[in-house]
Amino acid sequence: MANIKFFSGKTTPIEMHRVRIIQKLNLLPIEERLEAVKRAGNNTFLLKNDDVFLDMLTDSGTNAMSNDQLASMSQADDSYAGSATFYRLEKALRHVFGMEYFLPAHQGRACEHILSKFFIKKPGQVIPMNYHFTTAKVHMTLFGGEVLEIPVKEALKVTSTCPFKGNMDVDALKKVIAERGKEGIAYVRMEAGTNLIGGQPFSLQNLREVSAVCRANGITLVQDVSLLSDNLYFCKQREEQCKNMSIHEIALAFAEASDILYFSGRKLGSARGGGICTNSKQHYMNLRDFIPLYEGFLTYGGMSVREMEALAVGMYETLDEDVISQGPQFIEFMVDELVKLGVPTVTPAGGLGCHVDARGFLSHLKDNEYPAGSLASALYLISGIRVMERGTLSEQRNPDGSEPIAHMELIRLALPRRVFTMSQIVYAVDRLNWLYQNRHLVGGLQWIEEPPILRFFFGTLEPIGDWQQKLMAKFKKDFGDSL
Ligand code: F0G
Repeated sequence: MANIKFFSGKTTPIEMHRVRIIQKLNLLPIEERLEAVKRAGNNTFLLKNDDVFLDMLTDSGTNAMSNDQLASMSQADDSYAGSATFYRLEKALRHVFGMEYFLPAHQGRACEHILSKFFIKKPGQVIPMNYHFTTAKVHMTLFGGEVLEIPVKEALKVTSTCPFKGNMDVDALKKVIAERGKEGIAYVRMEAGTNLIGGQPFSLQNLREVSAVCRANGITLVQDVSLLSDNLYFCKQREEQCKNMSIHEIALAFAEASDILYFSGRKLGSARGGGICTNSKQHYMNLRDFIPLYEGFLTYGGMSVREMEALAVGMYETLDEDVISQGPQFIEFMVDELVKLGVPTVTPAGGLGCHVDARGFLSHLKDNEYPAGSLASALYLISGIRVMERGTLSEQRNPDGSEPIAHMELIRLALPRRVFTMSQIVYAVDRLNWLYQNRHLVGGLQWIEEPPILRFFFGTLEPIGDWQQKLMAKFKKDFGDSL
């Protein structure tokens, strides 16, 4: 981001873009918000967007596009096979990653499906990783794979000064290889901008060390680069050896260390789609046949050609520090403000969004009363802000029906890039502050309907007791006729 100092000495991040298309927002009165959250079964995924004021659920497919991205959509070539759009996207990816082969897929989880299907050869094979992502884990376990998380110890601490909480513990990786042998490992997965533990990056150094261990043992290293842009920015900011590298050089180094990259184009490139990149003809040939079977022909893979055009432009824009710094800088501003107010927040600030520690916030609740789910519901009620639960509710039950308690119990206020203004961030901080002052009023949740797979998407819950009415009464007392 451009270095622009304020005369006042304030460290306010300043946008290097202007807003030219807007969408009108609506903030319902709190009584209607209570009805809406009830209809949604206290699951923010089930809220209707018309009932939401600030949609901080996710940055998936919701980042604002640039004028160049929008313009590029009009040149989309919609032929089934051999589309010129495909070759433009392939060229962009080759440029950014220096990788020869590209397999298109409709979104990130489609890549996870295909990679799991090919690489998990027998039940019980393990996939060591810095940390899992929900859809990645489900695909792996459906194919009999076993997720093994080996992040560095700092990763799971809410507050830390460690700049790279997304690093893998390299000694733990060596140990698992020694124990299981090459045959026992399907592949190693590194996730850039580790989603579920607060958007925390890994360092280039750590990636290279992991890569060296994988190469010495003939094990494939797969990198999930969905949240790459934040991770690149953090390497440039926080890692000595990256300070004099361009963003593009860091991206190339990330790719060089990996055998396979895959991504959600709903995040990386600020469009919609996904794909797999590799330099290995063998990997390409092994995975290729799954694309027409599950996704679409090899030159679109289930994506809309308009989105593919936007993705190609978005890939080039990912190399622009002014573009990729907006998200992390706004998140850092928000985290700093919350920390000043004493609201338990994941530090250091990561990418993707601001992560609030629900276990610390609602320390009077038990883990199986779902503090993060309760906090997400309460925050919507008192502010119209939609956030995502990233805790125990987002976990899958064990085969024996027992419930794994998430390492971290977070709510994520995602900041889709270039979407929210500074005053909207200030509003979110203000309402979180009020809620923290009134946290004793927030109670837990219990299931009404719990689906067996990815339960957080469709499951419905109800409050334990009448805490929502009490919270609403206090809100009305303090805020009067304010929305
Ligand atoms: N990998 C990571 C790191 C992700 O964050 C996501 C999606 C995926 C893979 C799956 O990609 O959605 O295109 O199928 N994350 C979204 C989120 C859903 O809200 O964080 P997808």
